[in-house]
Amino acid sequence: MKEQVDAVIVAAGSGTRLGASVPKAFVPLCGSPLVSYSYSVFRTHPAIDNIVLVVPQQLIESSNEMFSDPRTMIVAGGKERWESAKNGIEASGADWVLIHDAARPFVSHKVIDSVLSLISNFDCGITATPEVDTIRTYTGNTAGETIDRSKLIRVGTPQLFKRDLLYQLIESAHTLSQIPTDEAMLFQAFGHTIGLAWGDPKNFKITTPEDFEIAEAIIAKNSMFLGR
Ligand code: C5P
Repeated sequence: MKEQVDAVIVAAGSGTRLGASVPKAFVPLCGSPLVSYSYSVFRTHPAIDNIVLVVPQQLIESSNEMFSDPRTMIVAGGKERWESAKNGIEASGADWVLIHDAARPFVSHKVIDSVLSLISNFDCGITATPEVDTIRTYTGNTAGETIDRSKLIRVGTPQLFKRDLLYQLIESAHTLSQIPTDEAMLFQAFGHTIGLAWGDPKNFKITTPEDFEIAEAIIAKNSMFLGR
């Protein structure tokens, strides 16, 4: 029997760096809420069974109207991203979950296929892109050493996890001396290997108003969401 794969889209952050009056995932991008872009991509991927949308408590009702669909569940997020992810995986009954940031509207079926291909070899996997900038350390206003960028990758989402195991590790996280800041680090802290799938630089995370402008320009140029 085919193993079930659900997408958990975390959209419950406040997005304070953006300075908008609504939570970041609900800021309109070319007329549609930011979260609706990645939602549509997962909703139309043939390997994705259900979608769990994790939203701010105050937007539960409007999200239920906006994303009314038998294969979509809406749940409230938590204070930290990992709490939102936990609430999302609790709502999913799938064998595998793909956790995705709503702040990355340009995820594609190709990137989803890429991370899903890790299922046969790993319990956990991330998508990443090669680092292209020169990266240095710094102290105050002086530059430090250059870090060999051929060893560096930029980590993105979606990230793949065996759901039961992820839940178990989240429950055991308090036993670690240092609390991991994301789910993949949690797997690594408990000795699991993280599989690596190549993503797409277009699947960048929207953080600032300038990122919104870039996203608008990409949509205008590519008409990649024709029919929206
Ligand atoms: O703040 P940042 O852009 O790093 O957040 C990444 C993703 O995690 C966003 O899609 C945001 O909505 C989500 N998030 C969440 N719950 C939080 C914090 C962030 O769902 N408490």
